[in-house]
Amino acid sequence: MKTILDFYRMKQANEKMVMITAYDYPSAKAVEKSGAELILVGDSLGMVMLGYESTTDVTVADMLHHAKAVRRGAKQTFVIVDMPFMSYHISLEESLHNARRLFQETGAQALKVEGASAQVLELTERLTAAGIPVVSHLGLTPQSVNIMGGFKVQGKDHASAHRLIEEAMAIEKSGSVMCVLEGIPEPLAKLITSRLTIPTIGIGASPSCDGQVLVYHDLLQYGTERLAKFVQPYADLNDITTKALHAFVNDVKESKFPTAMHTYQLDPDVTLDGGE
Ligand code: KIV
Ligand code: NA
Repeated sequence: MKTILDFYRMKQANEKMVMITAYDYPSAKAVEKSGAELILVGDSLGMVMLGYESTTDVTVADMLHHAKAVRRGAKQTFVIVDMPFMSYHISLEESLHNARRLFQETGAQALKVEGASAQVLELTERLTAAGIPVVSHLGLTPQSVNIMGGFKVQGKDHASAHRLIEEAMAIEKSGSVMCVLEGIPEPLAKLITSRLTIPTIGIGASPSCDGQVLVYHDLLQYGTERLAKFVQPYADLNDITTKALHAFVNDVKESKFPTAMHTYQLDPDVTLDGGE
């Protein structure tokens, strides 16, 4: 398994890192086989796996359930688990308690938190001191969708761009080992990436980041209805699934399935009483 030191070396060598989300056993197995170095058990699972309206509905129990399945499917890959909405904002004590569970019970390599508030910076320091690596997430932070007033690109104007640069410097100083940058303009992503020693992983944050992340269901078009501008679909599982299920339904209705090939017979010398 790659470690955080490998990711620092990759940044220095200009080698791109790839992170893909996974939420269950089959997706974890598929990502592990893909050559991606990093798996994120994102709280996006609330939408793509559970049909919630927003990541603000995701609970620690949801994250534990899914992250454990991911671990079982990907034993050799660096796994990062999102701390869900309000699981790290009530008190330091409760945040540490939730972090311990999300780290220890899932066997993850790191936890991810959104933003760079004083509270999140303090938690980052405390977790780092306790031996739990923290990945930060800046820019468009979906858990704050109701504060941002929608899923909007962040850091477009001078003030907010400079605020984001300061946040990036602050999370690194607090001990963060990696930073997801979401929904920010390219020049800002480029500047933050060059200023930070830790790797930046972009989503809707230009090719200038040290690596890229996409949501499994977006890149495979699996259960998703519309894709954001920053997504490149690499398959259409919606189409494959619909066609396959439709074909199965039709075959059963037209008695084309099952055939002899799918059917069991008695031992050759056996006849059943009352049979034929
Ligand atoms: O939850 C998630 O999938 C994420 C990525 C989009 C970075 O946080
Ligand atoms: Na997330």
